[in-house]
Amino acid sequence: MEKLRIRGGRPLHGHVPISGAKNASLPMLAATLLTSDPVQISNVPRLRDVHTMLAVLQSLGADASFCGEAEVSVQADNINNLKAPYDLVKTMRASFLVLGPLLARFQFVEVSLPGGCAIGTRPIDQHLKALAALGATIELKEGYVTAEIDGRLRGSLIDMDIATVTGTQNALMAATLADGDSTIVNAAREPEIVALANMLNDMGADVEGAGTDVIHVRGKEALHGCTVTLMPDRIEAGTFLIAGAATRGCITINGGCHDLLDAPIAKLRQTGVEVTVDGDYIHLDTHGEQPRAVDIRTATYPGIPTDLQAQFLALNCVAKGTSRVIETIFENRFMHVPELARLGATIESDGTTATTVGVPQLYGANIMATDLRASSCLVIGGLVASGETVVDRVYHLDRGYEHIEEKLTAVGADIQRIDE
Ligand code: EPU
Repeated sequence: MEKLRIRGGRPLHGHVPISGAKNASLPMLAATLLTSDPVQISNVPRLRDVHTMLAVLQSLGADASFCGEAEVSVQADNINNLKAPYDLVKTMRASFLVLGPLLARFQFVEVSLPGGCAIGTRPIDQHLKALAALGATIELKEGYVTAEIDGRLRGSLIDMDIATVTGTQNALMAATLADGDSTIVNAAREPEIVALANMLNDMGADVEGAGTDVIHVRGKEALHGCTVTLMPDRIEAGTFLIAGAATRGCITINGGCHDLLDAPIAKLRQTGVEVTVDGDYIHLDTHGEQPRAVDIRTATYPGIPTDLQAQFLALNCVAKGTSRVIETIFENRFMHVPELARLGATIESDGTTATTVGVPQLYGANIMATDLRASSCLVIGGLVASGETVVDRVYHLDRGYEHIEEKLTAVGADIQRIDE
């Protein structure tokens, strides 16, 4: 199994290019199922989750593959299977995003229930509620969701009890091909929803209000192909900035996503580091100083994203003072806490809050990644620890960080992938 060996204690210095956004790419790939025309998406990162989504599309009969270094082309003109099986959905929950598009275009879909995962139980009730509001008959049987409709979905009011990101995306994609108008109330406001809505409008849909909590969709009989460029990955950008701060380094990232990172940048400034924005560049400089610990409370956009909680926690472990990090989105997202403790962090958690007392130095150890963002937090831990840290189960990291060792090596980290 592959592991990462990190010899820590070196400040990161230099420039990191940011890849296309994983969490924007997955719904956009699912949206290609809404049309029989070809769709081209550029700036697509070569990540395990992207390959899994391409495999899902292929399993349905779509022609879907990389056709350039970062270009993907999909044509779903020969869909011959309307079932997304357990084997694929269990490897990536976001496979569930095919539910809305397939139902809307083919009036039937069968998708394996995703089940829980390392960060919580993660129900899908809101996805199903949205499709039921559009007139679908939903059945749960033998671990699968079946949704069907006689004729087209019917435009409707979709009132979400929880602002869910992929739930909103499923509802939005389904509503674009419904007969009549739909309004999604309490929609999630994440930038990845805006990116999806823009793509859908490029495909001929009529979506207004994405980025706010009320989205209006005027249903169309058919959508057409489009060419679209993926937005930069704000979570990857935030991760590298936090790594720069934790290692007392000086990091510049580019990709043009500073306007999506207002809350994390404000939080980083509270640690005492200097952050400046210049066009597409974000420049972070610690001037070699130990940062101050900051309290964090995760929130939906535009708050501090849960996907940066673990990385901020790693920073707090080596910052001056005590801090409390409160996770409000997922009920079980502190699996990295005992691993950080193995590196010598003074840290404890009661399930929703993690409290740290910062120490000037962590010490290398063998640690194990449990999910994608926990992995990047442990890499940050390894980068600041003296001596050697070996991070096991790095396949989690490969789901969401493109070329991470290369990018870290280029800014001065001593990090290698080893196969044991
Ligand atoms: N929820 C329900 N019912 C539902 C849907 C969600 O109770 O039907 C709950 C969840 O259990 C959770 C909360 O609502 O407590 C919010 O979850 P949400 O549905 O918004 O999460 P998601 O759509 O499953 C996406 C990202 C996650 C990110 C969250 C929150 C993708 C593919 N995944 O998940 O990204 O953490 O939004 O921002 O977009 C990651 O990249 O590491 C990752 C986990």
